Amino acid sequence: MENKKVLVTGGAGFIGGNFVQYMVDKYPNYDIYNLDLLTYAGDLTKHCSIEKKENYHFIKADIADRKVIMELFEKEKFEFVVHFAAESHVDRSITNPEVFVVTNVLGTQVLLDAAKEHKITKFVHVSTDEVYGELDFDRETFFTEETPLQPNSPYSASKASSDMLVRAYYETYKLPINITRCSNNYGPYHFPEKLIPLTISRVVNNQKVPVYGDGKNIRDWLHVIDHCAAIDLVLHKGEIGEVYNVGGHNEQTNLEVVKTIINTLGKSEDLIEFVEDRLGHDKRYAIDPTKLEQLGWKPTYNFETGISHTIRWYLDNKEWLEQVISGKYQTYFAKQYKIL
Ligand code: NAD
Ligand code: TYD
Repeated sequence: MENKKVLVTGGAGFIGGNFVQYMVDKYPNYDIYNLDLLTYAGDLTKHCSIEKKENYHFIKADIADRKVIMELFEKEKFEFVVHFAAESHVDRSITNPEVFVVTNVLGTQVLLDAAKEHKITKFVHVSTDEVYGELDFDRETFFTEETPLQPNSPYSASKASSDMLVRAYYETYKLPINITRCSNNYGPYHFPEKLIPLTISRVVNNQKVPVYGDGKNIRDWLHVIDHCAAIDLVLHKGEIGEVYNVGGHNEQTNLEVVKTIINTLGKSEDLIEFVEDRLGHDKRYAIDPTKLEQLGWKPTYNFETGISHTIRWYLDNKEWLEQVISGKYQTYFAKQYKIL
């Protein structure tokens, strides 16, 4: 019997990259096609352990390029699509929102059209809890799948728009979809523009760590491997048309996260530098994962075990980190954090 073909978009990025490795290893009877434009956030060196495997394939393409995407679907007849490709950083969406609309909204629509035309078995749209907006600091309220969408940043607005299109393709054309909405991820191969890898890379080099505002904003952190397992479960067992929230109840203030990393690395808290707050900075995110747990999902890491695993990984993979923080990253950092 022929292998089933799985298209993974954005598989050169952080979560998509971890997911591609997870799927290539777990399912030798699936052919995994990693489609990625290789923007600043994409990097293929992370795939040296799988790039020679027969069930791994790479395609460099833009999801918003309708002609290329239509031809690809015609040729490969994919069974499943797992859609990660996106512009993903809130700060970049504040300085340059346009590309977020092009990639996250129009790019998703192109994929939906291709999936519809070729009658795929399942389209999993990987979204974010940020589409729900923000919660109060009380730690008693949580995002459920019924929480209304109220995105606050250009990034989350573009993701919410793509979620709405995915929903509409289910309602209108009966396209077999699921939407997952996960909390903040961390783990191996996380690009150091986001809080956790940025803090690790700065602290290792004894450099100041920029904390926005008073550092009291709260995020709900999930190890990337637990997110990959959740998507695998939803792909195979998720009820068609349903949304699943993904999170493991690991709420931390940003200051707690930064201090944990500094203390684990044995450095001084004097490295913390409070800087001007992010515009429209969401106060708190927190997920109620009951629906996904009822499907059979359980996280393997809590924040304590996950963060020590992640710090260890960065210490053991300094070459990868050095490579991604050279060149254009330095220009980005200097512009974003003027004083550091
Ligand atoms: P990332 O920025 O690390 O990776 C994005 C990948 O998409 C990169 O490899 C990039 O080259 C590729 N890409 C960008 N534009 C493209 C285009 N036009 N065509 C093809 N490829 C393109 O992002 P991530 O953190 O891995 O996030 C992946 C997905 O998960 C996103 O959809 C994001 O919204 C969602 N998500 C992220 C988090 C998180 O904490 N990082 C949490 C929940 C959901
Ligand atoms: P980030 O990793 O950008 O993820 P998101 O904005 O999608 O939640 O930021 C996580 C939190 O850390 C968020 O509250 C903003 C804050 N933050 C800082 O304080 N300093 C930084 O340099 C960055 C990148 C983020």
